[in-house]
Amino acid sequence: KSTQSDLSRLVRTADRVVRKTFEVEMQSFSKLHARYLVEKENRRELSDWDRIKSPNDKQVIPYDYLPQVSGSAALSKLAVLKVNGGLGTSMGINGAKSALEVKDGMTFLDLIVQQVEHLNTTHKVHIPLILMTSFNTHDDTLRIIKKYVSQDISITTFNQSRYPRIWKETLQPCPKHASDDKKHWYPPGHGDLYESLVHTGLLDRLLAEGKEYLFVSNSDNLGAIVDQRILQHMVDTSAEFLMEVTDKTKADVKGGTLIEYDDSMRLLEIAQVPSDHVDDFKSVRKFKIFNTNNLWIDLKALKRVMNGGGMELEIIVNPKLTDDGQAMIQLETAAGAAIKHFKNAHGINVPRSRFLPVKSCSDFLLIRSNIYSLQNGHLYMSESRMFDSVPVIKLGDHFKKISDFQSRFKKIPNIIDLDHLTVTGDVHFGRGVTLRGTVIVVANEGQRIDIPDGCVLENRLVSGNLNM
Ligand code: UTP
Repeated sequence: KSTQSDLSRLVRTADRVVRKTFEVEMQSFSKLHARYLVEKENRRELSDWDRIKSPNDKQVIPYDYLPQVSGSAALSKLAVLKVNGGLGTSMGINGAKSALEVKDGMTFLDLIVQQVEHLNTTHKVHIPLILMTSFNTHDDTLRIIKKYVSQDISITTFNQSRYPRIWKETLQPCPKHASDDKKHWYPPGHGDLYESLVHTGLLDRLLAEGKEYLFVSNSDNLGAIVDQRILQHMVDTSAEFLMEVTDKTKADVKGGTLIEYDDSMRLLEIAQVPSDHVDDFKSVRKFKIFNTNNLWIDLKALKRVMNGGGMELEIIVNPKLTDDGQAMIQLETAAGAAIKHFKNAHGINVPRSRFLPVKSCSDFLLIRSNIYSLQNGHLYMSESRMFDSVPVIKLGDHFKKISDFQSRFKKIPNIIDLDHLTVTGDVHFGRGVTLRGTVIVVANEGQRIDIPDGCVLENRLVSGNLNM
């Protein structure tokens, strides 16, 4: 109750122009908060481990089983949406991750535009591109897409919700005023997509334009291009929701997985797993696949679900600290959790190439390197690479933040023949560096290693001074 009155007070502090939107947002937040309080007292959703089953062969279909497609009728009913509101905190980014340059002066967003433009010209269709932004990423996004205004592609941006962080101790909202500092607010996860589509009127607009299918993916996943076989499969099976999953490797232990729970498909995130089952969750044996967050959604079905009381997506509690160490939490939801609300929903097990996210600067090094080449905005593994797999790259904490990464590589090295790279400590790379085989560079505490311009390192362990 006291949170309710705090929220009403917060609404009254909002500027008249934005008050309506803000009020709607606070109502949604209030529902999420109330659900959280109930769950805190009672058992959490999906907490009964014994009821969790691995999906069967009908619930996750291998991509190779999908028939080839001729014609492109379904494409004219498709819209493409990128979730682009995340904070990119793990890489120390302040704005949109998708505004970083990937290759040839082009950012993630430029490449996404190219991908959709290419599809439109190849199939003579007008697939609109929609970008979900947040108060943190909106300006960066607009700055990049404004150059496409006069081009023959429809790009729409809409702002997702902004929710108040809450104090861990009292569970009261941190901000006192609607215009309080950024640090008191957060975008509540990509699960917010559905409510934001409704609140902004975009869902109705898409339906009015004759769009029936929405392909959703992360803006940092350049592997997530429109796939006609998956779209056609959706049409043929009347599936209202498809989740692209892919085989888990040892490196993917944290990704959410698709499960069967009480006879329905569910997304299980690590945050929902009881602590004594976390190892089970991470193991490749029981949960062989994980969610790529490439989702295909039937828009009419979405309208039905949202009109019929909306969704109850499992709550992910994300702990945060203020600068002076006070504990806050933010309540988030994941887009894939919506799967339980749709009919004939299932998973498609896709090749790994459809999942190329950039979660760390090590991932970023890989997609910027000559391992990948570009074609119509899509990244392909270079033909000069002699192996099927990409190198394993482990950059240490000195490369954690994007600003450090950028200052430590004068140029991205040639890694076409690299298998494995580990770098720890204060290391700087010059121009024209080539890395081959297994390369390990270790600068100990207080030491700095400079890999000189033009240096070739092949199966080398470098520590201390580099005598070339
Ligand atoms: P993640 O939540 O996995 O992380 O977002 P992130 O934003 O890439 O990075 P961290 O965890 O803050 O370091 C996956 C995708 O979902 C979008 C992100 O922009 C990214 O494309 N996203 C995330 C949103 O659109 N809104 C959100 O509230 C959260």
